[in-house]
Amino acid sequence: MKDIYCLAIESSCDETSMSIVKNGVEEVATVVLSQIDIHKTYGGVVPEVASRSHVESITIVLDEVLNKANMTMDDIDIIGVTYGPGLIGSLLIGLQAAKTLAMLYHKPLVPVHHIAGHIYANNLEERLKFPLIALVVSGGHTDLIYMKEDYSFERIGSTLDDAVGEAYDKVAKVLGLSYPGGPLIDKLAMQGADTYNLPYPLDDSSYNFSFSGLKSAVVNLVHNEKQRGCEIRIADMAFSFQKRVVTVITKKTMKAIAEYNVKNLVIAGGVAANNGLRSKMVELIKDKNIKLSIPRIKYCTDNAAMIGAAAYYAYKKGIVADLYLNAKATDSLYND
Ligand code: KG4
Ligand code: ZN
Repeated sequence: MKDIYCLAIESSCDETSMSIVKNGVEEVATVVLSQIDIHKTYGGVVPEVASRSHVESITIVLDEVLNKANMTMDDIDIIGVTYGPGLIGSLLIGLQAAKTLAMLYHKPLVPVHHIAGHIYANNLEERLKFPLIALVVSGGHTDLIYMKEDYSFERIGSTLDDAVGEAYDKVAKVLGLSYPGGPLIDKLAMQGADTYNLPYPLDDSSYNFSFSGLKSAVVNLVHNEKQRGCEIRIADMAFSFQKRVVTVITKKTMKAIAEYNVKNLVIAGGVAANNGLRSKMVELIKDKNIKLSIPRIKYCTDNAAMIGAAAYYAYKKGIVADLYLNAKATDSLYND
């Protein structure tokens, strides 16, 4: 069978990224231009600034990825692009680039849902095994997903309010840490202890999550302590917060893999980089006969390689868009 090379584009938030991926499994070359340093000044992503920055970077990233791969557009078979969800102004830049390339070079345009990309980041490490449960934990999502085969997504649980990464970033902000706060809390938690009495969020029998109550508990505690003139022990707060998050997430995930009798547990999204979550998952799954897939750190946060991996399987399922394809700030991956 002929090899399929995908040129993939990801610009849904604050990373301008392009990648060339062979047959959905092999990363040939990737370029990620992060805007984190620009947004740090504002304490979070400023959508208008992000969009303008994508405009400045997009053609540079294209040249760079083709150079890195030592390829030209003639070597590319399909164009994969994140059409949503994400910041609309950011998505539009990557999408416009993808459509232009598809039209100019007569290549099929494959629309990829950002969350499908995060899941398929794991396919770049080792081929996914089905059926599987995917735990997607990022700045915008906290979902438990059942996949019986490639490119089939059934959501079994989701957050009812904040996404877990969002809660990490908000807690970090109230503790005076810079953006993005998730990795900083993770690092601090390694030096802390469970000394703050925080609630375990939505610790019930459902597959849903809720992080706003835990986040508010941290915010209130910090304010009360400050008013009493007490200093916050940041490392202990980070540990106490992370312990609650990891305990509830891993408990529900373990319940799901047992109930759905799966062969593979896949962890995906920016928060999959979290050391507490990674080590707890490894510990819980080690005596189960289930493969655990966690991406390398570089594949956890936003990158186009994961979009290139997902695009291959979408294309094989016949998912191809025309030039009327629109960016979507919100869009469901699921049929529910
Ligand atoms: O997947 P991603 O790059 O973007 C979205 O699609 O949302 O995820 C970004 C999120 C941010 O909230 C960031 O704080 C969080 O992932 N994050 C972490 C860690 N690394 C990134 N959260 C906890 N621990 C980490 N080590
Ligand atoms: Zn993401």
